[in-house]
Amino acid sequence: EELPGRVTLARMRELAHGRLDPLTIEYLETGAADQRTVLANERDFGRHRIASHVLRDVSAVSTVTEMLGHAFASPILVAPTGSHALFHPEGEKATARGAADAGCGYVMSGYSTTDPDDLEVDTSSMWLQVNVPPVRAVLDRIVERAGWHAALVVTVDTPVVGARESQTWDGLTLPPGLGFPLLDGLELRPEAGRGIYRTGLDASFGLDDLARIVEESSVPVVVKGIVRGDDARAAVDAGASAVIVSNHGGRNLDSGLSTVRALPGVVEGVAGRVPILLDGGIRRGTDVLIALALGASAVLVGRPILWGLTVAGSSGVRAVLDILGRELAMAMALCGVNTVIDIDTDLLSTDG
Ligand code: FNR
Repeated sequence: EELPGRVTLARMRELAHGRLDPLTIEYLETGAADQRTVLANERDFGRHRIASHVLRDVSAVSTVTEMLGHAFASPILVAPTGSHALFHPEGEKATARGAADAGCGYVMSGYSTTDPDDLEVDTSSMWLQVNVPPVRAVLDRIVERAGWHAALVVTVDTPVVGARESQTWDGLTLPPGLGFPLLDGLELRPEAGRGIYRTGLDASFGLDDLARIVEESSVPVVVKGIVRGDDARAAVDAGASAVIVSNHGGRNLDSGLSTVRALPGVVEGVAGRVPILLDGGIRRGTDVLIALALGASAVLVGRPILWGLTVAGSSGVRAVLDILGRELAMAMALCGVNTVIDIDTDLLSTDG
């Protein structure tokens, strides 16, 4: 698939929408209820202004980022999102290849339509994500399979399905013959009128369960879906090796705090004990710079990856990651910073 020249993320979104049916667009874009949080995620990056340095040698800017023992080309990872077969016939195979070609991290969703063993790239730096299923045997199998990858991501912001009432995707089904290989045994096969995500969550999951997973996992456990410092501290006490500040792209609790506003509280709660990642509303390299200045070590992107996947498969995914990486490098140079660890809070001014 050919990508047009001079494409931005906003253009990629338009192109993707031109190729998808309305139901799939709704599944992709919609947040919970009245969309307050999904909108705030993007908008609140705009509350910050960058006070850039000049007269510093920025002839050798590098965005290389080390995360849980792996070096990536940039601090921008692919967020876990489900059902990539809805967006491109090659599904997660294309996503994984695009992320690998860009040198970026890939968090594979538990709701993937591809088995991780079938990805055609080296998956040793990949992270595997799970929305805690209520069937112990299924959870145990995912914990075991994560052992082949670099980390296990446990999403904790979805004890029940969120208020996605505006979504009519009860009728959205996977193409024939596809399912969620990682969740085999959960009876999640799409059935007419039931929607594809209606079941399969363990609402009783708590800190003790998290501690047990940490105990049983042979790889670091990353907790995704935290917006408060006290919860972040509790997750780290339970053994989390990193936390992801996330409100699930505004898809669960409406009126929830935007992630960029939640980040400082989490930074305080974690007190430097583990790396912090953030997702939600990252659309520009300057958003990445703002998140890092506020104390994140890396960010993840959800919807933009699916735009790229829709438009051009693996090269579209790679293009989205490359565009954001280039924009970040440009912003760093314009701020007088050479490495991601030098992106400091003193670069920000909040008085708009
Ligand atoms: C998601 N997200 C998500 N999160 C997760 O932990 N497991 C999952 O399977 C999914 N699935 C999913 C599907 C779709 C279509 C979207 C848009 C999102 C949430 C995702 O990981 C991430 O938190 C947000 O998408 C980040 O916000 P942006 O970048 O989309 O604004």
